[in-house]
Amino acid sequence: MLEQIEPAPADAILGLTAAFNSDPRSEKVNLSVGVYKDEHGKTPILDCVRTAATELAAEAATKSYLPIPGLVEYREAVCDLLFGSGHEVIEGKRIASAQTPGGTGALRVAGEFIKANLPGATLWHSDPTWPNHPNVFNACGLPLKKYPYFDSQNDRLDYEGMLAALKKIPAGDVVLLHGCCHNPTGVDPTGQQWTEIASVLRERGVLPLLDFAYQGFADGIEEDAAGLRAFSTEGAELMVCSSFSKNFSLYRERVGALAIVGKTAESASALQTQLNAVIRRLYSNPPAHGAEIVNKVLRSATLREQWIADVAAMRRRINNMRQGFVDGLAEAGVPGDFSFITQQRGMFSFSGLSKEQVESLRDEHAVYIVGSGRINVAGLTPTNLKYVAEAIGDVVGQAV
Ligand code: LMR
Repeated sequence: MLEQIEPAPADAILGLTAAFNSDPRSEKVNLSVGVYKDEHGKTPILDCVRTAATELAAEAATKSYLPIPGLVEYREAVCDLLFGSGHEVIEGKRIASAQTPGGTGALRVAGEFIKANLPGATLWHSDPTWPNHPNVFNACGLPLKKYPYFDSQNDRLDYEGMLAALKKIPAGDVVLLHGCCHNPTGVDPTGQQWTEIASVLRERGVLPLLDFAYQGFADGIEEDAAGLRAFSTEGAELMVCSSFSKNFSLYRERVGALAIVGKTAESASALQTQLNAVIRRLYSNPPAHGAEIVNKVLRSATLREQWIADVAAMRRRINNMRQGFVDGLAEAGVPGDFSFITQQRGMFSFSGLSKEQVESLRDEHAVYIVGSGRINVAGLTPTNLKYVAEAIGDVVGQAV
């Protein structure tokens, strides 16, 4: 029975890291997967995380199951971070929520929830989007469609095209949006545009689903929630998938959350029971460790302050690398204006390199970026920046 099963294709992002790890070339640089690295090319454990983990180890009293939707204190702390403490959706008890295994786990739970409870709904995603979005939602059996997002001629948001498409989406469908730091383009709507998008979707009776995995990597932890909060108006419904992989550097602990905002407290109670039912049949209940760490840090004034400073430092380093990258490309004689890279937000830059150029970068220079041309700027360091810029100069020169 099993022998006839063919190998699966390599994953568009994690498959590259597997290839990178087995590449023997010492000059190799991995700018594919969205993982933050410090100026030494390391992904360190944050001090606040280490402290919290040490305290937890000393306090731990049981390894019994968590409740199906996870730790209640964690879920409340996440909602405060997303919507802002005291927000009407919190005070009005309009949120059903769950602690999930990472942001991807939140997306899968959201997809299964939609499939089970909104039969016939199509899920619309941006073109382009994170390559794992279609994988996750296809696996839930949801029909998928795309709306335009990126103007590649001008390296900016195709706001007019996006809005025109959103205005035609049928009532009862779901629209997936990236809450900030759009992956892969690094291009986000402005505050005013978010407000307009939110009111278009609300008028049409379309449910927004926000993937919010990079809070703090654009302008700040509070500032980056502006888009999400534009959707969180009185009586509005929405879903939010969030993650602490990046902003807590807790990648391997798989810490995320799903928040579903209902119209009323009664509706949220019903949503919570359906959410629990989905989780029970998927993985029963979540792993505890990462969420306990996040909960401890968010609830300790000292650790929380350290965390906010850590996120700010990561954000500053990435922005410095953006500028360094633009300067490095100019110094390497790469033709064209790359100043748009400094306007992009979050970890990624959409370089505009073709599939062939991406392949040459990998084959000839051992520089790994995603096939779409997405570069993880958070993987650039003062040490590898010149090498990467020159390698790009080489492959762009070959193509001219
Ligand atoms: C990425 O886009 O590189 C990250 O979100 C990691 C992943 O799981 O793909």
